[in-house]
Amino acid sequence: MLYQKKIMLLGSGELGKELVIALQRLGQYVIAVDNYEGAPAMQVAHQFEVINMLDGDALDKIVAKHQPHLIVPEIEAIRTERFYDYEKQGITVVPSAKAANFTMNRKAIRDIAAKELGLRTANYLYATTLEEFEIAVTRIGIPCVVKPLMSSSGKGQSVLKEITAEALAKVWNYAMEGSRGDYKEVIVEEFIPFDSEITLLTVTQKNGATLFCPPIGHRQERGDYQESWQPCVISDTDLKEAQHMADKITQVLTGFGLWGVEFFLTQKGVYFSELSPRPHDTGMVTLANTQNYNEFELHARAILGLAIPQINLVNVGASAVVLATDEGTNPNFTGIEAVLKNINTDVKVFNKPSTRPYRRMAVVLCNGSITENVTSVKEKAIQLSKQIEVTSV
Ligand SMILES: Nc1ncnc2c1ncn2[C@@H]1O[C@H](COP(=O)(O)OP(=O)(O)OP(=O)(O)O)[C@@H](O)[C@H]1O
Ligand SMILES: [Mg+2]
Repeated sequence: MLYQKKIMLLGSGELGKELVIALQRLGQYVIAVDNYEGAPAMQVAHQFEVINMLDGDALDKIVAKHQPHLIVPEIEAIRTERFYDYEKQGITVVPSAKAANFTMNRKAIRDIAAKELGLRTANYLYATTLEEFEIAVTRIGIPCVVKPLMSSSGKGQSVLKEITAEALAKVWNYAMEGSRGDYKEVIVEEFIPFDSEITLLTVTQKNGATLFCPPIGHRQERGDYQESWQPCVISDTDLKEAQHMADKITQVLTGFGLWGVEFFLTQKGVYFSELSPRPHDTGMVTLANTQNYNEFELHARAILGLAIPQINLVNVGASAVVLATDEGTNPNFTGIEAVLKNINTDVKVFNKPSTRPYRRMAVVLCNGSITENVTSVKEKAIQLSKQIEVTSV
């Protein structure tokens, strides 16, 4: 018998919403948490809580109140240090307290990847002051990519192209402003002129077998993905290398679930970039029925310890985001009716209650049979996403 577990989801965005749906369909009970009421995942959960997840005491309170069997983080910005305590209390943190805690800090994860595991990554150095920053930039060379250690979605991230006092100060200040909390440190990374970048969705399971989804290609702008497609055609050698790296890093971080492992593909081989210990936004392409199970169904099964006998590509597909342009509330969409007239096309609207420039509000999904050209499917998704407009008051 499938036992109903109480699951606390920390972060209730569009990815969380799809996960809740997958968990509900397996008979589970979900409490969705975020810092505002009406968040996408709350709309489909049994219960919800509104707290600041960076506040450890507020987290402790709701964990004590609900006594969940599992805690499932959907975002990085959580007081993850508390996860170790929850594990000690017998609660399963997904995929593990270590994975959630290490991946929220670029330093922790980069040092494990490059130093402990010897994975190929961009050269990097850290800096905690403007003086150290200048030294780091001089050593790494330009162009280089500068990121706050604690940030996501490209916040505070920029490419430094010249070593002048003015450019250094500008990039440093931007990183400080985009830094989460009062953590004042940056990573300076060698700029990798990659040919393409991929997400390798990787599933670690209770039975010990690690599974890989066909690679997903994507394109980023302002730190957020604009479109993703599956499969991304890459060489067998590159794929094997990426799978090997994904296997190594997920084993070290421990736990069961689906991970989004990001790589850069270059003439010199595959570079490990970073990873999410949970469904990845570029993996929304799997909502286009590209696989026998989408990434949320895979995560749900893996965290519940349920079998995943095989992952198959059943269609080629693409996703393209629909972004808001202005700040406002009560978003309204135009163009969806016309887009839905196209075959093999779907639109998922997230029902976010408010808008701001570049906020992701919906996604267009297109697919085609596995013999179809994935590039044309991608172009179609991009064109259709441009026909949808978000307005708000
Ligand atoms: N060293 C690098 N060289 C070239 N491009 C890079 C480098 N590091 C990052 N980028 C580009 O910036 C994007 C965002 O970087 P990264 O994934 O590290 O940031 P992030 O804020 O964690 O993003 P997210 O949370 O959305 O995954 C990458 O997907 C890639 O396109
Ligand atoms: Mg990333």
